[in-house]
Amino acid sequence: MTPERPTEWFDDDRFWRELSGFIFSDARFAGAQREVEQLLALAKPAGRDVLDLCCGPGRCSIPLALQGYKVTGVDRTGFLLDQARDRARQAGVAIEWVQQDMRDFVRPGSYDLALNLFTSFGYFNDQQEDVAVLRNICRSLKPGGTCLIDVAGKEFLARIFQPTTSHVLEDGSLLVERHEIIDGWSRIRNEWILIRDTDVHRFRFHHTIYSGQELKDRMAEAGFHEIRLYGNLSGDEYGLAAERLVAAGRKPI
Ligand SMILES: C[S@@+](CC[C@H](N)C(=O)[O-])C[C@H]1O[C@@H](n2cnc3c(N)ncnc32)[C@H](O)[C@@H]1O
Repeated sequence: MTPERPTEWFDDDRFWRELSGFIFSDARFAGAQREVEQLLALAKPAGRDVLDLCCGPGRCSIPLALQGYKVTGVDRTGFLLDQARDRARQAGVAIEWVQQDMRDFVRPGSYDLALNLFTSFGYFNDQQEDVAVLRNICRSLKPGGTCLIDVAGKEFLARIFQPTTSHVLEDGSLLVERHEIIDGWSRIRNEWILIRDTDVHRFRFHHTIYSGQELKDRMAEAGFHEIRLYGNLSGDEYGLAAERLVAAGRKPI
């Protein structure tokens, strides 16, 4: 049974629908094949069962399936899973799609590799819910299986932070992003203003920002060991030049 929870920003399908063209741009999709090659080289899964938690429109699930991996893609957003299904059909691959909240999905001892990619972690107001997600991932892995998380790290954000940024999207819309660091550097609050011709849409969302050490500690609390941090999916060190915070941890045998 699904527990009753307060509605949060990520429960708003309009957010994903209106912004999907930006979040999942053609360029972002084009980079997925390379990301998958890199993450496989980094994680070296012992078998072919992969969980893509918060898979969105299947950006990485599909290239993984094309390489012969047996993928379960889990996401709460039905609209994005519909896109994933269409794309998988076009690519000619079979993937299991599950519409479920990441706090609820658990399938004990089933996967060699569990992925949570492209800043899909840290969304909950209560950080213990992030740990609960990590515990579910750990339970869902086979003994010795690997969990790989890819987010924007706190150290990176501190280095590049600008209160306002803007982008012209592929369809010519203007996206203005406003960012605020809140709660003593534990969370970031964003306001994205999408301007399309004379239409203006505003989206507000916020999430926890983890430092390398904080993410490592949460993963250890959830039962992982041999936790390593990297500055990107190619496995470069988590140092001053890090562009991402990639954490890989193993479920004990
Ligand atoms: C930034 S996107 C990343 C998608 C994908 N991992 C990728 O690399 O392209 C975040 C995804 O998390 C999903 N999501 C957000 N909150 C969720 C939740 N509570 N449970 C499951 N999925 C969630 C969204 O629907 C969206 O597809």
